[in-house]
Amino acid sequence: MADLVDLRSDTVTRPTPGMRRAMADAEVGDDVYGEDPTVTALEERVAALFGHEAALFVPSGTMGNQIGMRLVCEPGQEVLCDADAHVVTYEMGAAAAVFGISTRTVVSDRGLLDARALIAQVRPRDDWHLTATAAIAVENTHNRGFGRVQPLGELQALWEWSRGAGVAVHLDGARIWNASVASGVDLATYGRLADTASVCFSKGLGTPVGSVLVSSAERIATARLWRKRLGGGMRQVGVLAAACTYALEHHLPRLGEDHEHARLLAELLGVDPATVETNMVVVDDVAAPMVAEAAKAEGVLVGQVSARRIRLVTHLDVDRAGIERAAKVVGGLVGR
Ligand SMILES: Cc1ncc(COP(=O)(O)O)c(C=O)c1O
Repeated sequence: MADLVDLRSDTVTRPTPGMRRAMADAEVGDDVYGEDPTVTALEERVAALFGHEAALFVPSGTMGNQIGMRLVCEPGQEVLCDADAHVVTYEMGAAAAVFGISTRTVVSDRGLLDARALIAQVRPRDDWHLTATAAIAVENTHNRGFGRVQPLGELQALWEWSRGAGVAVHLDGARIWNASVASGVDLATYGRLADTASVCFSKGLGTPVGSVLVSSAERIATARLWRKRLGGGMRQVGVLAAACTYALEHHLPRLGEDHEHARLLAELLGVDPATVETNMVVVDDVAAPMVAEAAKAEGVLVGQVSARRIRLVTHLDVDRAGIERAAKVVGGLVGR
């Protein structure tokens, strides 16, 4: 369907003509040998953006998160996070299955970071009965928390406590760009509140693939080994890194539009605007399978989060007219 409005996720975007041109023109080399200048330039740029020494281009956010956590957590130790975190919900149990890392969760209010609640659950390293907590993983924005932005004060409190406690902080920053645009907090401030951070280009920034893991130079050297071991060593991927560089220059500056569109959609659907902080709108108390199916028949795709909840995510492939159309279709189906 030509005029399909796909609001299932911000991962559904297609590379724009400008991005495709940048990809076609990219200078490339063999990145496993460290010889792809476009990849190296992207890594240096992203490390600097987040206030870290070094960075590594990886194929996916899942790989960025899992290697990031492995860098700060040994097999048999645990990572603590909220119960709805992507790293424990949607990454196929990778921490345990691949790395022998235990995870433990704390129930949160829609993913809202509560530093005190997490800290209260931390288990020490020097007790031979206990699974030691080596790291805490934080997600910003929070996917299952409807794109919620984590409060800077909580991030700072966690970071300050973690320095004295010898517990690392990993940031799942798949949508850290959205957090920064919505809060006005710069990327380096967020980056400096984490030991390791994975940031994605294939969500709101609209590339077909690509994430970057940032950390210290020493850790990133180890991450390079893990990436190769996991089969993530890639060759002439300057074509992909060029898409990411293009996205930083052309798509990051427009990200606020997606947030405006989400607010408009919420308003048109009668959703509480307080629940819309970035680019996700969640509609509750609806017959989700029926609504999704009927909306699809009218050319609008929505995500089914549960039997009674749908989610609509705005992104660069949906303009204002698309938002208005989606609101009309979905609003008609849910009686709003
Ligand atoms: C918060 C968050 N972290 C990590 C990921 C994983 O990214 P990928 O699908 O590239 O593995 C996603 C994917 O949507 C996500 O929403």
